[in-house]
Amino acid sequence: MQRIRLDERVEFSRIIHGLWRAAEWKLTDQELLHIIEECLEMGVTTFDHADIYGDYSCQKIFGRALQLKPSLREKMEIITKCGIKLISPKHPEHKIKYYDTSKEHILRSVDNSLQELGTDYIDVLLIHRPDPFMDPEEVAETFSQLKAQGKVLSFGVSNFSSSQYEMLQSYVDVPLVTNQIEISVMHVDPFVDGSIDHCQMKKIPPLAWSPLAGGKIFKSEDEKAVRIQNVLKEIAGELDIDSIDVVMYAWLFVHPSTIIPIVGSGKLERIRNAVTALSVSLTRQQWFEIWQASTGRQVP
Ligand SMILES: NC(=O)c1ccc[n+]([C@@H]2O[C@H](COP(=O)([O-])OP(=O)(O)OC[C@H]3O[C@@H](n4cnc5c(N)ncnc54)[C@H](OP(=O)(O)O)[C@@H]3O)[C@@H](O)[C@H]2O)c1
Repeated sequence: MQRIRLDERVEFSRIIHGLWRAAEWKLTDQELLHIIEECLEMGVTTFDHADIYGDYSCQKIFGRALQLKPSLREKMEIITKCGIKLISPKHPEHKIKYYDTSKEHILRSVDNSLQELGTDYIDVLLIHRPDPFMDPEEVAETFSQLKAQGKVLSFGVSNFSSSQYEMLQSYVDVPLVTNQIEISVMHVDPFVDGSIDHCQMKKIPPLAWSPLAGGKIFKSEDEKAVRIQNVLKEIAGELDIDSIDVVMYAWLFVHPSTIIPIVGSGKLERIRNAVTALSVSLTRQQWFEIWQASTGRQVP
């Protein structure tokens, strides 16, 4: 499996496994450990978390599985995120959902992530969403502290526009290493809103969340989804591929910006489909057939 270097400290696998839905999978700790071990075996060594996933439960679920075999920690990279406060029975003090990128909140969230995941460092910490109330100086100071303490190796953002990214970067004294954004055949905006251009300019790999459009593409009957499904099926036929998810991943992999998809399934055969897609080469014309199906019109 190809490895992508983000800076002198951190390298990701070309495919990331995402734990957002881990609470829905209803796995035993042993079953989740099996998935983690199989991922590592396939070369998928990077795992994506956030403090809030599964109503604040997913980091703990992963941590319990990892505790069964703590030696696996050094074979993987862990991403986690902070900055969102959810309405949750676990936090009755949150009257509304809101963002918090204060030093106090980031430090508390990181300590909590370390404890729940059962690790003493996070490879990459992301600010989960752009916060309209963010004090970039305070975030930069917090990042420096976390790095000096060895609690976080590197930092990045998620769902930031290029200007929001550059604004934060101008305060942070180490290069931010990625922007995690929604990219899929159903959501092609980042190719035209400047997000991917910006990653290419900074030479950082974009991380694609919901690379299969959150699964909607498989069941949706809306016009756009059906149009895309038909083209995906046609191309899968041309390439002798059984499943359209392979084509969806291949569509991301062949793009020159080194998009790293975050696979959201807890089923091994579906994670394997992402790995299979690494060896599928779509032609430029096939890439644009999918583009055209997604945008609903011929390029100008
Ligand atoms: N930064 C952010 O704001 C943000 C936001 C959302 C997500 N994320 C990250 O991105 C990761 C991936 O997101 P995602 O879970 O939405 O990814 P996704 O891969 O687009 O969607 C996963 C969903 O698709 C279903 N699926 C996959 N293959 C299928 C198939 N062949 N047929 C039918 N259904 C299929 C899965 O069901 P099964 O489980 O049954 O396979 C699962 O429900 C998350 O885990 C999280 O780490 C980040």
